[in-house]
Parts: sequence; C-alpha cells; structure tokens
Amino acid sequence: MSEKKVTRRDFLGIAAMSAGIVMTFGSLAAMGLRFLTPRRTGSQPVDLYIGRIDEIPVNSSKIFHDLRGQEVIVLRTGEGVSGFSNICPHLGCHVHWLAEEKIFFCPCHLGKFDAEGKGVSGPPADAGQSLEKVIVKHDEIAGNLFLQVPAKNT
Ligand code: FES
Repeated sequence: MSEKKVTRRDFLGIAAMSAGIVMTFGSLAAMGLRFLTPRRTGSQPVDLYIGRIDEIPVNSSKIFHDLRGQEVIVLRTGEGVSGFSNICPHLGCHVHWLAEEKIFFCPCHLGKFDAEGKGVSGPPADAGQSLEKVIVKHDEIAGNLFLQVPAKNT
C-alpha cells in the first residue's frame, strides 16, 4: 500500500477550495435569509388616495378597498367622514349603511351598529362588539380622501 504524500501545494489548494465552498454557501444562506425575512421601510403608515369627498353624499356611505383588497366602508355625516371594516365582528357578514335609520346593518342576524361603529342591537350589541375602525383622512381644501394603511413591506 502506497501512501501519497500531501504536498504544501496540495494543502493550499484544498484550503482555498474549502474556503471558496464555505463562502459560496454562506453567501447563498445570507441571500436566502434576506429573501425570507421581510424588510420594513419604516413603521410610519402611509395615506392611500381613495377618491373625493363629493363622491359620497352626506348621510351615505361608499365602499373602498385597502391595499390588501379588504373592503372599507366610508361614512359621510354632517360632522365629517369616518371609516370602518364592513365585516361584522359577530360572524363575519358584510354590513351596510341604512341612511333612514342612521345605522350600519348586518343582515345575517339583524345586528345594528351606530355611526361610530358601536354595536347597538342584536348579537354584536349583546357581545359588546364594534366595527373595526379605519382611519380616513379628508383634505378639506382639495376635497380628497385618504385611507391610512400600514407601510408596504419591500
Ligand atoms: S354576523 Fe352580523 S350579526 Fe351575526
């Protein structure tokens, strides 16, 4: 049986190749972690333009969509605008505004919410539930409406 002698040149070649493999897989692992871990551009929410105030008559509402495609119901009263998720907190049906009664109505179990989104009748009132509020900003000079949404991850 013959023993092969490892020369200094062989040793340096193997060491260089090993270092190259470690660096390559280390770089790939770092890129993988970066890809899997979302970066945040900041914690400040952003304003999403949704339309003009004159698209919503006083004492009526209109549905808009946020960046995730979720429906937001924007109510305009004589005092201003306010926004809510139109998902009923009881079992998830969609609510709508009844102008004559000045309430949000959920047809599934006859739930009712006042103009502030607070449950006032039916199962949501019994459970002390309210509609989820969404911040809507009104630029009174230009008449534009904006939804405040979380900053998008990049
Ligand atoms: S789902 Fe709205 S009252 Fe039940």
